[in-house]
Amino acid sequence: MARPTLNGPGGRSTSVPPLDTADMQGLVSRAYGHLPLARYLLCEVADAAAARGWLGSVAPGVSTAARRDEGCGLVVAFTYAGLAALGLDHDALATFPRPLQEGMVTPHRSRILGDDGPSDPALWRWGGPGTPVIHVLLVIYAPDEAEVERELGDRRAAFAGALAEIAPPIEGILQGGVEHFGFADGLSQPVLKGWPRRTASVRPAAPPPPMKWEEVNPGEVVLGYPDNYDKPAQGPTVGGKGTAAAALPPAPWAPGRRHLGQNGTFLVFRQLAQDVGAFRRHLDEASATTAARGTPLSPQEVGAKMVGRWPSGASLVMFPGGDPGGAGTNDFGYHEQDQTGFRCPLGAHVRRSNPRDSSAESPAKSLISSKNHRVLRRGRPYGLPLVDPPTQPGEEESAERGLLFLCLNSDFERQFEFVQHTWLDNGFFAGLCNEVDPLVGPQPESGGGFTVPDTPVRRRLTGVPRFVTTVGGAYFFLPGIRALEYLAALGA
Ligand code: HEM
Repeated sequence: MARPTLNGPGGRSTSVPPLDTADMQGLVSRAYGHLPLARYLLCEVADAAAARGWLGSVAPGVSTAARRDEGCGLVVAFTYAGLAALGLDHDALATFPRPLQEGMVTPHRSRILGDDGPSDPALWRWGGPGTPVIHVLLVIYAPDEAEVERELGDRRAAFAGALAEIAPPIEGILQGGVEHFGFADGLSQPVLKGWPRRTASVRPAAPPPPMKWEEVNPGEVVLGYPDNYDKPAQGPTVGGKGTAAAALPPAPWAPGRRHLGQNGTFLVFRQLAQDVGAFRRHLDEASATTAARGTPLSPQEVGAKMVGRWPSGASLVMFPGGDPGGAGTNDFGYHEQDQTGFRCPLGAHVRRSNPRDSSAESPAKSLISSKNHRVLRRGRPYGLPLVDPPTQPGEEESAERGLLFLCLNSDFERQFEFVQHTWLDNGFFAGLCNEVDPLVGPQPESGGGFTVPDTPVRRRLTGVPRFVTTVGGAYFFLPGIRALEYLAALGA
């Protein structure tokens, strides 16, 4: 039986109910680009009743998608263990999706996510086996150092005795919308159909992306709304009795139960360390190799080919000749302009993570399929940039730096895990032979390959090191505001 399709070319149009943005946490609508400092607090529930009391007091002040926070922003999310520790009953816990129940570090998931070798969860700083169990993630966003310290102090005072921090806060800092390898990030995002206004991005200067490439049904990110299959994105449910449950909408697929997931979403959080020194050295070496073969690419061109965009964010498809500067636009596909990959290599990071309409047989179907695997990215860098020679401690090559990769999706397996496993880490993606994502893929110790199609002959770069290592991670449920209130009222 043919599956219903989304509102893309060739698909049918879905009308979506009004989006209740006041009940969604702010992370759904923004990456907090106006608040450059962030602290990620990993906590355990120290006392369930006190934790529920704390949650009841903070829930009304949690940032929502309906309003932009003028002061600081706050995000509250829970792991499966955290929901159990709060007192959610077994029947409700059993309705959470399997990846949330099992967590990110089962052997099966590690295989799917490519977490082996140096990314083995046994080596992780947090979230891995042998590290304290995470229950709650709090993210504080603030405009400057003074505010972040003040907010941190206030929040800690508020949860004292209820939550206990299990690791030092992780510090994220925006660096003008550029990640540590030197490329503009956070440019191409899915836009939810029916959204009341445009999503603010890390780089608001970017022109609004055209709907053709971006629009997905809201249920791709927010639970309770139609997804790309025109079915309500099903989240966890709870028994229907009690006043707290009455505030949640009924779950039509589970008669007698209420939808705890309504206006919530699922959050992927992975701390990805970036080896910037190795990246820069590789660009120089690969450039020298191409020169020696008589088909030179500059180090900047090698990097751009790996990412699929120039450092400014400009697309290689639109600007094959060089970086025009300025914020990148998103108005491009691959089928008509670059089916061969002469401009943007078939294995480039952006082409793998969102192949758009690249399939030769049916660009329209390819676009529909690509849209079924979108994630809403909400990450930001951590650590200071690599500066040579360093001007302050933390800028040296040996200091750790990377990306706090956060993304939202309604289906871990169909969205985040699919992108990571079937596109980024797939050695045979798009007909390639034994090469994974050149930027973020788990390269073999001996180095991987990267094909740069060109005429009359392609360039094949070898010895590509692993530049990105996973050092922590967990899956979370990011409830809507009413669901936070429900959780706070458990046991009442
Ligand atoms: C340290 C690790 C990573 C770095 C440095 C990185 C960097 C980038 C850059 C520079 C872009 C282009 C700008 C933009 O469209 O935002 C991009 C796009 C993207 N990345 Fe990553 N990325 C990383 C990891 C990941 C991971 C783990 C995933 C998913 C599993 C991912 C998914 C995406 C997606 C979906 C896009 C947008 C592609 C498009 O729609 O054209 N990235 N990334």
